[in-house]
Amino acid sequence: MNASILGTGSYLPERILANADLAKMVDTSDEWIFTRTGIRQRRIAAEGEAVSDMGAVAARRALDSAGIQATDVGMIIVATSTPDMCFPSSACLVQNLIGARNAFCFDLEAACSGFLFALETGRRFVEAGTVRNALIIGAEKFSCIVDWTDRDTCVLFGDGAGAVVISSSGTGRGIIETVMHSDGSLAESLKVEGSGSRKRPVAAGSVSAKSCISMNGRDVFKHAVLSMSGAIEEVLRKSGIGIDEISWVVPHQANIRIIASVNEKLNIPMERCCLNLDRVGNISAASVPVALDEAVRSGRVKRGQKILFVVAGAGFTWGASVLEW
Ligand code: ACO
Repeated sequence: MNASILGTGSYLPERILANADLAKMVDTSDEWIFTRTGIRQRRIAAEGEAVSDMGAVAARRALDSAGIQATDVGMIIVATSTPDMCFPSSACLVQNLIGARNAFCFDLEAACSGFLFALETGRRFVEAGTVRNALIIGAEKFSCIVDWTDRDTCVLFGDGAGAVVISSSGTGRGIIETVMHSDGSLAESLKVEGSGSRKRPVAAGSVSAKSCISMNGRDVFKHAVLSMSGAIEEVLRKSGIGIDEISWVVPHQANIRIIASVNEKLNIPMERCCLNLDRVGNISAASVPVALDEAVRSGRVKRGQKILFVVAGAGFTWGASVLEW
């Protein structure tokens, strides 16, 4: 029995940081950022607003749209690289905030690929009959790991959360095929070094570039294009579905030029992509579920359509899923 998406929800923080605001902080311009990345603005979480707070709002909205109660949820996975704290997991904190007392909960870290990896993990529990309903959340507060003096990276990221409820469909609709890959030899291209056990986290009150994102933008760009286009080809081949049968592609949104290059390689019209990069920037694990929720709520996604998710991120990690709505 396929697991299918029963409901979606998302949350974006109130504060908007436009390119013009960034131009007052670092040596950049709206024109440079927009032409090189496709981003016009991003949302920034409030000071005390953490990943679990944003994830809980998105989760409640997903539960509402699924028409189920928090107590009906058997598992919660939060995909994030910016958890509230080292432990407990942000998933446990979301559980408490929404009152999902029957769920077991854990976080999953696969950077920008996190949501797709979490969705596939949750799907396996649902399809095995271990749980009836699972909440899969992608939530990020990248504003707290961005070096706001580094123009190479600070223009790219934003904050937000998206969630889906997956459930056993019993209809044949749902997730059809997923492919996932990793290559740890590319770890150096994109990392936050001073946030774990190898380099000591910085002392309270001090700021160090080591606790912020460091990135080789060109390497990331090249690998994202190759891996995302390869994953799409692989998932279509394995599922026996043609690219023309896909109504909507919901890609991870890091840079519009990455998406355009993938589309050009595979003959995917840009109009078939659910995009919000211009308004939200790169929200990492939240990127796909937020764009999906917006597309569902706007009425673009319709029952019976085939949808494709494709992601790539630090690790490196990448993958794609194809599903019938
Ligand atoms: N404003 C103005 N100028 C800038 C800025 C900025 N914000 N950032 C860099 N520049 C300058 C550079 O210093 C360089 O100047 P120089 O020619 O005098 O040396 C010039 O602009 C060109 O820099 P490039 O790095 O060649 O610019 P590029 O066209 O490669 O774009 C970018 C850079 C946008 C980072 C691109 O490489 C990219 O998007 N890479 C992917 C990064 C990414 O998506 N990371 C997200 C995480 S991974 C993921 O989500 C898949």
